Amino acid sequence: MFGRLAGFPQAIEDRLGRAQRVIFTDAHLAEAYAEQLQAFCPDVLEVVPAGEATKCFESVIAACSRLAAGAIERSAVVIVFGGGVVGDFGGFVASIYMRGLPLVQIPTSLVAMVDSSLGGKVGINLPTAKNLVGSFYPARVILCDPSLLRSLPYSEFANGMAEAVKHALLDSQEHWDWLKALEPRPTEWPEASLEQLVARSSQVKQNIIEQDPYERSIRAHLNFGHTLGHAVEAVSGGMSGTGLSHGQAVSIGLVASLKLSQKLGRLRHSGLTEEVAGVLRGWSLPTSISPELTWPAVERAMRNDKKVKAGRLRFVLLSQPGEAEIVDNVPGELVEQAFEEMRCEL
Ligand SMILES: NC(=O)c1ccc[n+]([C@@H]2O[C@H](COP(=O)([O-])OP(=O)(O)OC[C@H]3O[C@@H](n4cnc5c(N)ncnc54)[C@H](O)[C@@H]3O)[C@@H](O)[C@H]2O)c1
Ligand SMILES: [Zn+2]
Repeated sequence: MFGRLAGFPQAIEDRLGRAQRVIFTDAHLAEAYAEQLQAFCPDVLEVVPAGEATKCFESVIAACSRLAAGAIERSAVVIVFGGGVVGDFGGFVASIYMRGLPLVQIPTSLVAMVDSSLGGKVGINLPTAKNLVGSFYPARVILCDPSLLRSLPYSEFANGMAEAVKHALLDSQEHWDWLKALEPRPTEWPEASLEQLVARSSQVKQNIIEQDPYERSIRAHLNFGHTLGHAVEAVSGGMSGTGLSHGQAVSIGLVASLKLSQKLGRLRHSGLTEEVAGVLRGWSLPTSISPELTWPAVERAMRNDKKVKAGRLRFVLLSQPGEAEIVDNVPGELVEQAFEEMRCEL
């Protein structure tokens, strides 16, 4: 549901009644939105450090212990107010504390609005692998106020644009034409543009997960750009916060998947790869691969990915905007070629 943050405390009461409230947020947001968060009258306000490192078992134990110390009961509502980290982490705690408390997602980053708050995946990382532990635990209510994006740093907005580009390409030529024409200066956009971006992009994911909530078929299309993306993210040290961000890695992965689609003779218009790369660069996202990322390391990471079945390379390939296909057994040499071609700027 779209609305304004000021109206969300009432919206929660209307939907889920008067209950104890636990709010999860991160340190950045707790400071920037201190007053607005108090308006929710939280029984427990759990402020976690900002950043990926929060998504770990130690933080889960600490958070569950604080809920127990705060006498949080089974009827309580958990509200996650933040980006994907807070949503994944707080949502996971909600899914296991007392075998599950009703969850409300209030996404604050573009990634969270168009991607992570939708579809019910919540979870944490292991020291060796991202998002390996988790549950399917859909939010009872998702409350989205796109004007929260006004305080989001540009680089974080750009991370969300990588997913928005993915969604537009999965959706249709019309969606892609609309998205590629957006000026990459969101601070200058009117409110309506922010709302339209979030509404259009989130709708693409929503439509896909309604058809396939447990990722048995078409939901895998959402992994477009992610086979190589996850690998370069892992190899660059993404989880430690020092390497490529997820959005940056997806940007590289999208271009690689288009190149691969071209090499396999699927892409109808070869100009699409350059066009997409140009739009991503316009958002200051990378489309070339730095010398530190070596093919053997990236290939190993790809073959270890949890989405890989029996070591076969599985890619989502595109023939044109709106037409994606999952292809198993993509020859490693072709992926290597596409990867090595990206050493120099497209
Ligand atoms: N569950 C899913 O389906 C799914 C999908 C995609 C990504 N994810 C997960 O989401 C996480 C990434 O999410 P993210 O990109 O939102 O990262 P994030 O939660 O780390 O947020 C990015 C940064 O922006 C700040 N921030 C967020 N909203 C803000 C606002 N309105 N104003 C000012 N600052 C704000 C945060 O404090 C943080 O520093 C990863 O852990 C990823 O695995 C999950
Ligand atoms: Zn992603």
